[in-house]
Amino acid sequence: MTMQSVKMEKPADGPETRRAKLLIVDDEPINLSMLSELLKPFYSVHAASSGIDALRIAAREPCPDLILLDILMPEMDGFEVLRRLRDDPRTRDIPVIFLSVMKDEDDEQRGFELGAVDYIHKPIKSVVVLSRVRAQLDAKVARDMLRLTNQLLTRRVVEGVNALEQAQQQLVQSEKMAAMGQLAAGIAHEISNPITFVDMNLAAIKNYLDDVIAVLDGYERAENGPPAALEEVRTFKKTVGFDNLLVELRIALQDSKEGTERVAKIVRDLKDFSRAGDKAWQFADLHAGLDSTLKIIWNELKFKCTITKNYGDIPPVRCLPSQLNQVFMNLLMNASYAIANRGDIVISTQRLGDHAVQVVISDSGSGMPPEVLAHIFEPFFTTKPVGQGTGLGLPISQGIVAKHGGKLEVVSELGKGTSFTITLPIDPVESAATDGHASGPS
Ligand SMILES: Nc1ncnc2c1ncn2[C@@H]1O[C@H](COP(=O)(O)OP(=O)(O)O)[C@@H](O)[C@H]1O
Ligand SMILES: [Mg+2]
Repeated sequence: MTMQSVKMEKPADGPETRRAKLLIVDDEPINLSMLSELLKPFYSVHAASSGIDALRIAAREPCPDLILLDILMPEMDGFEVLRRLRDDPRTRDIPVIFLSVMKDEDDEQRGFELGAVDYIHKPIKSVVVLSRVRAQLDAKVARDMLRLTNQLLTRRVVEGVNALEQAQQQLVQSEKMAAMGQLAAGIAHEISNPITFVDMNLAAIKNYLDDVIAVLDGYERAENGPPAALEEVRTFKKTVGFDNLLVELRIALQDSKEGTERVAKIVRDLKDFSRAGDKAWQFADLHAGLDSTLKIIWNELKFKCTITKNYGDIPPVRCLPSQLNQVFMNLLMNASYAIANRGDIVISTQRLGDHAVQVVISDSGSGMPPEVLAHIFEPFFTTKPVGQGTGLGLPISQGIVAKHGGKLEVVSELGKGTSFTITLPIDPVESAATDGHASGPS
């Protein structure tokens, strides 16, 4: 017979082994000593001569790996001991083998129902005891390992899911940044134009003011000087075209004001589009989102595309507006990219029954062959040159639409154009509750 060993609880500390701890419970001293003598060479054996003693020893760390429990005992019988062991979380999982005097089917059934793992009948045969004990300890080792592996796996899965979620958030962010990067040049141009002419106007205003101040100085000198001085000022005033100069000055100021207003408007549009910090689900007007997106990407579209809006009568939709804007932006930028020279983009919206709306963005661009179309929703799939495409726009858009309980579909014909359809429930929460297949806001 080999020595039974049990693996310690924490595999992270290395596969240490120790002698398995057995607890024998019997009110007959002769039985106790006989069993102890038999098992001692192989196990660390503890003995208890009553149920109360047994419960006390069983709860002491390290808990026994196996208990041999006599059924017939005064005060507290084996069944009661087992029941109490199962009630205590510290001892709940310790396997118990009953020791019973004779074979009584009802007794055995009751014992198994209470959670005993085996029976050994008295009079005790050494071979039977040793082999049953060993079998139960082997089973316990296997169970413990399984439980530990299970815990470890669960932890790994949770860690994995967390890492994935984090990676996904980073992807969403990086696609947004990439798209913004494409826009940045256009926006910089939009802002630098008005700033340049405000700058030029300020230089002109300074020259006009120099002349105005010179005229005023002249008048001041003439007040206390000879009459000829006044004549001199009047001549100067004519030379600089004073009346006209005031008109010019007013125009330059007005132009400058318009210039700064344009910059302010661009900033406002950007804010509208990104709705910075706006992370809340809310009922929003999709047309407003589409319009603000169009304003932002107008520079990319205006030289190539004629935009036609077929806006239908749609109600506000419960959504994350800035995220839907990201979807609109990606679809519109893709459409514009697919148009080589000049073409059309049509944006249509309509209500679909009582609970949904549809936004369709169609272009008269290149269209896609089936082998491209089959992959466009895969992360990192792009046909654009390095540095121009991330291949994340569509998978992220699809993710955002799915998060809204909707779907994103595409139809494309090579050489003719492409049409993306976004279908959204008006209220994802309500839809999830009624038809059960929309995933609501989380
Ligand atoms: N409107 C469209 N017309 C033609 N091809 C398109 C259109 N929209 C998307 N595609 C194709 O799908 C690919 C993936 O798009 P997307 O995920 O937005 O990534 P990216 O724009 O960075 O390439 C594009 O590279 C292009 O080949
Ligand atoms: Mg894209």
